[in-house]
Amino acid sequence: MPLVSMNEFLPKAKAKKFAVGQFNMNNLEFAQAIMQAALELKSPFIYGVSEGAIKYMGIEFTVAIAEAAAKKSGLPIALHLDHGSSFEVAMKCIRAGFSSVMFDGSHHGFEDNIRLTKEVVKAARAMGVSVEGELGTIGGVEDDISVDEEDANLAKPEEAIRFYEETGVDCLAIAVGTAHGMYAGEPNIRFDIIEKVSAAIPVPVVLHGGSGVPDEMIRKAIEAGVGKINVNTENQVACTETIRSVLAKDAKVYDPRKYLTPARQAMVDVVKSKIELFGSANQA
Ligand code: 13P
Repeated sequence: MPLVSMNEFLPKAKAKKFAVGQFNMNNLEFAQAIMQAALELKSPFIYGVSEGAIKYMGIEFTVAIAEAAAKKSGLPIALHLDHGSSFEVAMKCIRAGFSSVMFDGSHHGFEDNIRLTKEVVKAARAMGVSVEGELGTIGGVEDDISVDEEDANLAKPEEAIRFYEETGVDCLAIAVGTAHGMYAGEPNIRFDIIEKVSAAIPVPVVLHGGSGVPDEMIRKAIEAGVGKINVNTENQVACTETIRSVLAKDAKVYDPRKYLTPARQAMVDVVKSKIELFGSANQA
């Protein structure tokens, strides 16, 4: 199966109240682990790739790996630019073979965010590529983007609804209290904002910063209208902790496969538990 746009599964997710996971791809082992978990549970999924990850892997390798996973698994997989910073970056990804892009205009003023997102939607739609927009700023650190928790602005429901109506995005990330990275305590998620926005728009709300959010909160968020959830840090932690423990036990290890094989399996376990929690198993 070729890579698909998120519209292949997001409308169904919204209607049936489950969420599709966006699992970030940082290298080949991440890509393989995510695909393996989804294959075992027959789930659609989204490979999220940040600009930093594209720089690290190279855009040709990124697309080739995702295409290989789609072909090998037969699953509906979207290859999605995570937090695209400009029209040019979004177009570069689409030209290279991405089936979906996020345009993150949340650091611009509200009207500029609408205007810029609309330009991306117009171009992407013509090529059958889905688009995610963002409103409000999500706190935490991701790649080179760092937002202090105090500077993170929650989305205003009326603005989010107008943003959707004017841009026609295929899903909408709104800042509701989650943050990228792990939490010191528990996040304070504004389910009321999710509910208000989701009830007024036909597309799903996206929850960024899915790592470390208690399961009960995830279930509540999906019930309130979240249909796409992003997870990156939990896989990074599982991968690195496993490598650290293998190396700590045996200082003579030099074959990367000796630590990458268990690291990859640790990520399979993380992704499987998220797919079960999100309710997307058997929805492929
Ligand atoms: P976490 O790293 O907190 O899982 O967030 C991932 C994310 O939101 C990617 O956009």
